Amino acid sequence: MPVISNHQANTPSSTRFLYETPVDICLEEPLKAGDSKALVVELPEPPNGDRTDRAFFYRLSSGEVVGYFNRCTHVSVPLNFDDDRFLDAAGFVMCRLHGARYELETGRVCLGPAMGNLTRVLFEERSGVLRVLGWERVR
Ligand code: FES
Repeated sequence: MPVISNHQANTPSSTRFLYETPVDICLEEPLKAGDSKALVVELPEPPNGDRTDRAFFYRLSSGEVVGYFNRCTHVSVPLNFDDDRFLDAAGFVMCRLHGARYELETGRVCLGPAMGNLTRVLFEERSGVLRVLGWERVR
């Protein structure tokens, strides 16, 4: 079982955990630009304390993939309407329950009622595999 390292970089503005052993997530199909994918992930120490959690990943038009835990920071519910639909018409991550909005590229909250930012999944992408290294919560 992967073990949390004590490699934490906590600053006044963020909390970061890096796993001693990364966790690989294989996508069934590669993400194309504009695609998002919601997944149930098993991680050794997710930020909410449950080993099984939800996350989603999105490929930006630049080719970069961003990933966040799929929990609204207002009430801890999954954000998406349908399986893999997270964005509103303007390209913000939108919570299905009360309509909070988050910047897709950063996870920063930009419209309430949520007050906190999304928790970012830290990972590397290698040949269709997302290697999860840890997570980061920015205040
Ligand atoms: S639960 Fe997401 S805005 Fe209320």
